[in-house]
Amino acid sequence: MDVFRIEGPVQLSGSVALSGSKNASLPMMAAMILAPGESSLAGVPRLSDIAVLSELLEQLGCRVDRSANGDLRVDSTTVDNPVGDYEIVRKMRASICILGPLLARCGRVEVSMPGGCAIGDRPINLHLRGLQALGARIRVENGYIVAETPKGLTGKEIFLGGSFGSTVLGTANVLMAATLAKGRTVIESAACEPEIADLANCLNKMGAKISGIGSPRLIIEGVKVLRPAQYRVIPDRIEAGTFMAAAAITKSELKLRNCRLDDMMAVVDKLRSIGATVERDADGCVVARSGAIKPADITTQPYPGFPTDLQAQFIALLSLADGNSVVIEKVFPDRFMHVAELNRMAANLLKEGPAVIVAGVKKLMAAPVMASDLRASAALVLAGLAAEGTTTVNRVYHIDRGYERIEEKLNPLGAKITRESV
Ligand code: EPZ
Repeated sequence: MDVFRIEGPVQLSGSVALSGSKNASLPMMAAMILAPGESSLAGVPRLSDIAVLSELLEQLGCRVDRSANGDLRVDSTTVDNPVGDYEIVRKMRASICILGPLLARCGRVEVSMPGGCAIGDRPINLHLRGLQALGARIRVENGYIVAETPKGLTGKEIFLGGSFGSTVLGTANVLMAATLAKGRTVIESAACEPEIADLANCLNKMGAKISGIGSPRLIIEGVKVLRPAQYRVIPDRIEAGTFMAAAAITKSELKLRNCRLDDMMAVVDKLRSIGATVERDADGCVVARSGAIKPADITTQPYPGFPTDLQAQFIALLSLADGNSVVIEKVFPDRFMHVAELNRMAANLLKEGPAVIVAGVKKLMAAPVMASDLRASAALVLAGLAAEGTTTVNRVYHIDRGYERIEEKLNPLGAKITRESV
């Protein structure tokens, strides 16, 4: 198992290129099931989550590999085993995004229920409600979802909002299934995340007829077949936000290349209110902080609100603010595994239900800490960059799920992170 040893405090400088979006790549890889033949996706990051979904697609009968230039190729000519195995799905809940495309392609699918994880329950009731509206008959057997469409899928008007608002992968599943349904489907309260817009654009390139892309109302005119396509995924806005927080917490200036600032206005707004500057430039942006970190209140919400995937990183940043901040988590109210670990680094955080009161401290102190989930781990790395001493982050496999060798991106900027196998 790998650990990170992080020396701090450091200052960073220079420029870093963002990788392709993990959360755009995963549903897009599943979408390849809809179009028999070989498709290729450019910009798909080399992450363990991508490897897990590749393994699952191969279990379904697909062939998945990388071309010489690094594009991810999915050959879905054969899909003869529509079963999402528990051993894989339990490793990565996003595997549930094979449900919709498999149902549309094969008419019958078995996928293990995802189960919970460190950031909370991961219910799929909205996914199932949406697919049932399209005509699927769904039951649970031995922990597996069994979905069948004896008469095929038929378009319907569907309200997909839940008690926490829209669902990203629920929208992806229903959207992908609807592309091959008979007639028109309207998804109301669809997720507006850029990753869903990117999926819809990719599906349209495959011959789907989707309109309202980027809005909470998606309209899909079903088609008979989709064709394989070549597509480039958008940059990872969560990786971008993580590096922006790295610049701010280390009082540095960083240039982010390949950054789509328009996808990040809520994050940019918070950075500016905290006292950082964010300036557009030719192919991305420059983020800098020189003065004190001002306190700020953050509430996470579905897009275009502040992303829950950056909540942990910004709590780490606000831990060093000149004053008190309040961070409220409205998407995954239990997503606070990082709070206890940051307090071990001398942060002063008080969790009250779905909120954390962040009393700013003058400095963080290095300590051995435990990564628990992808974004909490990133928060611990950021804290280690600013803390005095050498921080050890255990279980960095969590980080490798969503960041391409993060230490190889941060060290050239001035970080001092060593990866050790223990
Ligand atoms: C996606 O997860 C992302 N994962 C998550 O990123 C991200 O945190 C999340 O969206 C919210 O933005 C991928 O895209 C692979 P949801 P998803 O369905 O789709 C509730 C990361 O760090 N809900 O939008 O699973 C749910 O409990 C990961 O990269 C239901 O109640 O999230 C949550 O409270 C972590 N019923 C809220 O909706 C359902 O059927 C939003 O969840 C589905 C969801």
